[in-house]
Amino acid sequence: MRTKIVAGNWKMNTTRDEAVALAKAVVAGVPAGTKTKVLVCPPFPWLTAVAEVTRGTPVAVGAQNVFHEKKGAFTGEVSPGMLRECGCEYVLVGHSERRHVLGETDAAINHKVHTALEDGLHVVLCVGETLAERERNLQERVFQRQVYAACAGLTDEQFGRLIFAYEPVWAIGTGKVATPEQAQTAHHNIRQRMSQLYGEKIAGSLPILYGGSVTAENAAGLLNQPDVDGALVGGASLKADQFLAIVTAAPG
Ligand code: PGA
Repeated sequence: MRTKIVAGNWKMNTTRDEAVALAKAVVAGVPAGTKTKVLVCPPFPWLTAVAEVTRGTPVAVGAQNVFHEKKGAFTGEVSPGMLRECGCEYVLVGHSERRHVLGETDAAINHKVHTALEDGLHVVLCVGETLAERERNLQERVFQRQVYAACAGLTDEQFGRLIFAYEPVWAIGTGKVATPEQAQTAHHNIRQRMSQLYGEKIAGSLPILYGGSVTAENAAGLLNQPDVDGALVGGASLKADQFLAIVTAAPG
């Protein structure tokens, strides 16, 4: 049985005070004894402050990005070790905004996945097709390319710290959520592809989150699908009550 994971991606939002208040409200509202893993991903400058709030609680902290080198002359970049020192256990890699707005390539994403896993972080690897790709029925090919490229060279132990987030680009921030059936089909296909590439054991234990316009209203339908192991939430993660409603919508 895979643990459900609900992650909030705050993107480039919140002031420091808002971030701390949001983290406090999430910590206070996570139901005692919940089996769902709860994760918040604030902007880099607030990581330490948020990690202070979540320390010793069931809420974990993740970063939204990382660089693929451990140190050196890379102006403006942040290494996995730095993230760990800020209190991060998780990092998002390959978010569609980084792929499509900032031009991150599959090869760069593979390097980031490797370095982050080598440094002991858990990686939430984001994959998903654009609207144009879905209209041409290319989503299978897109998964295959993104998944194959991102996971090349990983060890079995590293796969144990990898989480996928299926985020169809057409659903992110648009209010156009995938139906539970669309999400289930995509997740099932990704798991099958993973099974063909890396074997049933890795595929069976891999958590696959859905992301793209998840709200308190649509979360239960998505989270009750057998291959949907959680949610990566953007907009709705900025309101503690909505985010917590998504956490409690997760079965188990
Ligand atoms: P959204 O964003 O929930 O605002 O659509 C999801 C994401 O980008 O991770």
